[in-house]
Amino acid sequence: MSGGPRQGRAARVVVAIDGPAGSGKSSVSRASARILGFDYQDSGAAYRALAWFALENGIDTADAEAVIASLPAFDYEIGIDPDDYFVRVGAVDVTHAIRDPRISAVVSLVARVPVVRAHLVDLFRTVIERSARPGIITEGRDITTVVCPGADIRILLTASEEARMVRRSAELPSESAAAVAEKLSSRDAQDSRVVDFMNAAEGVTTLDSTDLDFDQTVQAVVALVAPPVE
Ligand code: DC
Repeated sequence: MSGGPRQGRAARVVVAIDGPAGSGKSSVSRASARILGFDYQDSGAAYRALAWFALENGIDTADAEAVIASLPAFDYEIGIDPDDYFVRVGAVDVTHAIRDPRISAVVSLVARVPVVRAHLVDLFRTVIERSARPGIITEGRDITTVVCPGADIRILLTASEEARMVRRSAELPSESAAAVAEKLSSRDAQDSRVVDFMNAAEGVTTLDSTDLDFDQTVQAVVALVAPPVE
């Protein structure tokens, strides 16, 4: 798609947020979209749903060719209303299933395949095009650099490794803190081979949430999108 996601829709605000696992991208993006009256697109959900689809069909997630061959049958749908979030593959609601540790363990394998990435990048841009609200926040690892380099507002949401591990651990109370830390840093290491989401590209605003609580982080995002009138 030439001209970027905003082509032909000059009035709509596109906000791109990326950052590492545990930075709070998803929950912060969703809450900010709610306050702004925007749509919200979780791009990681598509990689997770594809990993779920592969496992469901007995496809080896390490076999790039097999994963690529499954793409035409991958019927993906995501809810972009921040108050009506769902992820479906065909008729199956996978909203919760894609958060399972068995998916997190293999999702990087499908996300590292360039043909998969190109396919999903097109899909993300199509979703942005279809948004009927005044704006849309899309979050994910390569959103500011690859998916929406022309977005109106581009933010890299970071936090110290320690803060990210504490947050992720609180989301997964059934797993030990050490296991969560191990998985998070190994997934970041694998993912960062594909996309540099630790350093802000030119024109991208870094928002470090290490010393901010959730509401303060959301307020900081909202202020970047809609600066308070003096
Ligand atoms: O943000 P998340 O944990 O739900 O993302 C799931 C995986 O998908 C993660 O391992 C990184 C990958 N991903 C990606 O490569 N590019 C994106 N835009 C979003 C996610």
